Amino acid sequence: MTSAIIAPSILSADFAKLGEEIHACESGGADWIHIDVMDGHFVPNITMGPFIVETCKRITRLPLDVHLMIEQPERHLDAFANAGATTLTVHVETCPHLHRTLQQIKSLGCKAGVVLNPGTPLGSLEAVLGEADLVLVMSVNPGFSGQAFIPQSVARVAEIRRRLDAIGSSAWLEVDGGVTAENAGRLRKAGATAFVAATAVFKYPQGIAEGIRALRNAINK
Ligand code: DX5
Ligand code: ZN
Repeated sequence: MTSAIIAPSILSADFAKLGEEIHACESGGADWIHIDVMDGHFVPNITMGPFIVETCKRITRLPLDVHLMIEQPERHLDAFANAGATTLTVHVETCPHLHRTLQQIKSLGCKAGVVLNPGTPLGSLEAVLGEADLVLVMSVNPGFSGQAFIPQSVARVAEIRRRLDAIGSSAWLEVDGGVTAENAGRLRKAGATAFVAATAVFKYPQGIAEGIRALRNAINK
């Protein structure tokens, strides 16, 4: 098995010292930096835009994993690509022309990700599964960090793993929301290859590097 990706979500970082905290992620062994973009429409919260992506790009050389929780994401893809996003992940629920949107992301030179809310049927991905470089399974309803993990997400990860394997896809299978050292092992066994965590990294009592280490240990157990 290829080694798992840990992608700290800066939603729980202290933005007064963003550079310091991202460097702590780097030296703690993070693989990607996850950036949660929210528009106050698709999800209740408003967070970051291309400006923050561009800031992160100047802070770190780690790949920037940009999660777009916004309506009409196709209107903003070029801005996020220009800002330095590595992966652009769009919600199935926001994309009436999902196949076209994934093609648009690739044409901008980014990896194309697709994400499902906890209440969205897995079948909504079927037609585009072969186009995705990354499939993200939400394990909370998106909008905020610090929410409780939805246990049914493990079975959803396992089923997506089965479907990716069936078509010979090597897409990343990422999970996001309430991920901790307590559930990461189960998610790994179900086939997840990339783990997003905000609270479990940035609010870990012993610090960022220890939080990443605890996740890594749980994943490798
Ligand atoms: C949720 C975001 C997540 C969030 C995760 O809407 O997509 O990336 O920051 O936060 P935790 O790990 O605290 O659940
Ligand atoms: Zn996210």
